[in-house]
Amino acid sequence: MTREVVIGIDFGTSCTSAGALIDGRVELLQDAGDPVVPSVVYYPDRGAPEVGRTAALRQLTDPSRVIRSIKRVIGVPAESPAVRRFAASCGFRVETGSGGVMLKLRSGDCPPEQVAASVLGRIREIAERSYGGQVRKAVITMSAQPPPQYREALLRAARIAHLDVLELVSEPIAGGLALGLHGAPADRKVLVCDFGGGTFDVSAIVQSGMKFTPVATFADPYLGGDDLDEALAEGIAGTIFRQRGYDMHRDITRWNQLVYRCEHAKRQLSTQETARVAMREAYVHGGTTHDLDVTLDRPWVWGKWAPLMERAEAVIRETIKRAGWSAIAIDMAALIGGTSLVPRVQHLVGSIVGSDRVRVSPHADVAVALGATLLTARHGATPGARLPVLDAA
Ligand SMILES: Nc1ncnc2c1ncn2[C@@H]1O[C@H](COP(=O)(O)OP(=O)(O)OP(=O)(O)O)[C@@H](O)[C@H]1O
Ligand SMILES: [Mg+2]
Repeated sequence: MTREVVIGIDFGTSCTSAGALIDGRVELLQDAGDPVVPSVVYYPDRGAPEVGRTAALRQLTDPSRVIRSIKRVIGVPAESPAVRRFAASCGFRVETGSGGVMLKLRSGDCPPEQVAASVLGRIREIAERSYGGQVRKAVITMSAQPPPQYREALLRAARIAHLDVLELVSEPIAGGLALGLHGAPADRKVLVCDFGGGTFDVSAIVQSGMKFTPVATFADPYLGGDDLDEALAEGIAGTIFRQRGYDMHRDITRWNQLVYRCEHAKRQLSTQETARVAMREAYVHGGTTHDLDVTLDRPWVWGKWAPLMERAEAVIRETIKRAGWSAIAIDMAALIGGTSLVPRVQHLVGSIVGSDRVRVSPHADVAVALGATLLTARHGATPGARLPVLDAA
């Protein structure tokens, strides 16, 4: 007999991860050995869409059929700046009207929730392959402060993906639960900073043993690792424009390649002092194409990120204020989300709460998925599983 599996999904701006409680233990789903599936969809003119790593690689060759960071426009009003920014980065037309946002792909019209459904559907497929039966139930996380229509849009997306959503959980709370369970039970004030690909969520949580009570939460829904990548790409493109008069934004393929390579450089800079960004046939000058080969160092990069760090600081301070706490009263700042691996981010949080209070999750990029998976236990998938107690926000 096949057992009924409930999956916990962190549907992220850049990456999606999911897991299930199997015999009371968290198992993260693996796509070709990777627990992190890029939230990227490639729509060929005919046939089924590709989702994940292979779709992400298509950005380098066929960006006009690739959709990434769709979460940024889900449930967002068509006239919002987020939609304008998203449209500017796409190699296809994005129509906005009374009916909302519509992606005009060569394969046909596509509303944002359809793209989300492709990602969620892929996760369901991986789960079904892993567990050998139908998977129809899920707990899904969402930002602490989602856009106005996000919830409904996400539920629609899940329905298209044949998933019944048993619970929607706040991302930082899920992340906090994953972290809290690994530490010794304690009474403490915890600031959970979830710096992901597209949003920066901060939650003030009081932990009392296994009980977590959210006290305040605040977010910048348009601040994430994607912006760090773009800031680097803008910096490089600005230099090329000043020196060579070529605007790299003019060619969507080149621009996408540059952003893609900057994302790699950013990751390298988490552990190295310098990182190289090299790209063939990057720009045209004097009638011929030229390759790009630059080395970025941390001081230059930190300078480019300064405005983004100011925004991140404002979110942290506002959360602390809303909680009625002072920064020195915080016992632990728990950093989750892939962008919390950026040393500049760790430095920023340390400068606010004290560097000795900063804890970066070793599973920063999957902490939210771990928390969502733990919460599936509330839905009877594995009776008797050890559960954290979660107060209502
Ligand atoms: N080692 C690393 N160093 C720097 N950045 C990293 C590293 N690993 C991942 N990232 C960045 O983390 C981001 C993805 O993080 P995460 O998976 O937590 O986001 P998400 O859940 O998709 O987004 P969101 O929570 O905003 O919806 C990407 O911008 C990625 O480039
Ligand atoms: Mg996330």
